[in-house]
Amino acid sequence: MSIKTASHNGVASIEIARPQKKNALTQEMYGAMADALDAASADPAARAVLFYGQPGIFTSGNDIDDFVSRPASDDEAPVSRFLRTLLEFDKPVVAAVTGAAIGVGTTMLLHCDLVFVSDEARLAMPFVSLGLVPEFGSSLLIARLMGHAKAAEKLLLGTPFSGSEAVDCGLANAVLPASEVLNHARRIAERFATLPPGAVRDTKRLMRQPLLAQVRAAMAAENALFRARLRGSEAAEAFQAFFQKRAPDFSKF
Ligand code: COA
Repeated sequence: MSIKTASHNGVASIEIARPQKKNALTQEMYGAMADALDAASADPAARAVLFYGQPGIFTSGNDIDDFVSRPASDDEAPVSRFLRTLLEFDKPVVAAVTGAAIGVGTTMLLHCDLVFVSDEARLAMPFVSLGLVPEFGSSLLIARLMGHAKAAEKLLLGTPFSGSEAVDCGLANAVLPASEVLNHARRIAERFATLPPGAVRDTKRLMRQPLLAQVRAAMAAENALFRARLRGSEAAEAFQAFFQKRAPDFSKF
């Protein structure tokens, strides 16, 4: 299993552990992460969740092979369940971005509460380059964080950005040396074990609630286009180019 879970000192950890494929996320892995979130939600001893990856890689995003062979087609797909579960999750979520965070690797950070990035992290949302559109509410939330012009760089051009830029725009809390980011994030997550859980939960809800309906609406609009585009000819060319390790050619579209 490429998702490892553990519970220690009040923290439910979700480790993405598929380094041979740069932590690309398959439907099984999304399902396992949704299950882990459900378990943490139901466990009174779990006061916070900690997401992390492997040295040098948080996640390279959705597994591109899965995009081709098992594209998510409805809200029951494991990826949809994961996105919904994280969006609605009522305990604090901390992320240690141990390296590159591509696609959902970046957009899921919008739904975490505290984000610590390694000084080697590179974030990117290359949805357009794949013939797709942004997901997980990022078409709404990235522009709210950065303003339209910066968001257009990240979403229309897919320009990667550093951990420092993620901190500057409010997507992350701090940049740490790669060797320290996980321990630091874990220590922060463990602080929730010393805080009153009801007040933490109510405060998170108050902070998230005002935008929730808008995020759900953005996700519904994104999902309709994303699922249609997954089966489209632009995505087919992008995926084929990825497998053939060549640049895609969109000149004929
Ligand atoms: N889906 C499926 N396989 C992936 C993957 C993904 N998202 N990301 C990496 N891999 C695989 C590669 O195909 C390669 O497999 P192989 O060894 O069988 O050829 C292996 O992981 C190593 O990847 P590689 O590209 O050689 O590593 P790198 O260090 O040069 O680059 C990344 C790392 C993350 C920058 C690069 O792999 C990448 O850009 N991946 C795709 C990211 C992406 O577009 N994700 C979808 C977002 S919606």
